[in-house]
Amino acid sequence: MSKGKFIVLEGIEGAGKSKQSRILTDTLVNRGVDAVCTREPGGAPLGEALRSLILSPDYDPDAISELYMYLAARRDHLLNVILPAVEQGKTVICDRFTYSTVAYQGYGRGLDIDFVRRANAMTIAPLEIDLGILIDITPEEGFARKGGADKSDRLERENAEFFERVYKGFKTMADAGELVAIDGSGTKEQTAEKILSEVLRIL
Ligand code: TMP
Repeated sequence: MSKGKFIVLEGIEGAGKSKQSRILTDTLVNRGVDAVCTREPGGAPLGEALRSLILSPDYDPDAISELYMYLAARRDHLLNVILPAVEQGKTVICDRFTYSTVAYQGYGRGLDIDFVRRANAMTIAPLEIDLGILIDITPEEGFARKGGADKSDRLERENAEFFERVYKGFKTMADAGELVAIDGSGTKEQTAEKILSEVLRIL
């Protein structure tokens, strides 16, 4: 059996990744594709437990501890959910992945970008990402859509400069051709159509 594709949706808070991941998965399933939807941090029992620790405002990990928590959640998710699904020929749609780590822990927190990239590469081996899509909206638009930051989420308590750096990180990856950027400022339906057309190119 041939392997399934692994597709990642990325973007800033409020870009609509989670909604678009579900829409894309449903659309593919309706077209007869064996597709599943998952998310990071989380996606598997240990990963989801780590997610609540990572995002809890009760703790204050430094940038390196935070990086390792995301990576631990990712490795668990990879081994228990992503690789088995891809091996079974399923198309996996993932809401955030390694690009978020480069954007948030690299550009946002200021960790060395090459170090973050190497750590990501070790964590996800032997998986290959078939397509990464950036749903491009600015942090201002994203937080306006969300109706402001969710203060129960430790990451969302960060200041505007942090999210500007994260956004710049995503844009840099798109400019380098690592991520395909699509304009996310239109309606939900318009964005879904743009995402689908990029995905159909690789299926
Ligand atoms: P979510 O709320 O979009 O699911 O993501 C949770 C938060 O975790 C979000 O602020 C982005 C952040 N994040 C990182 O900082 N590094 C990562 O590697 C991932 C996957 C998410």
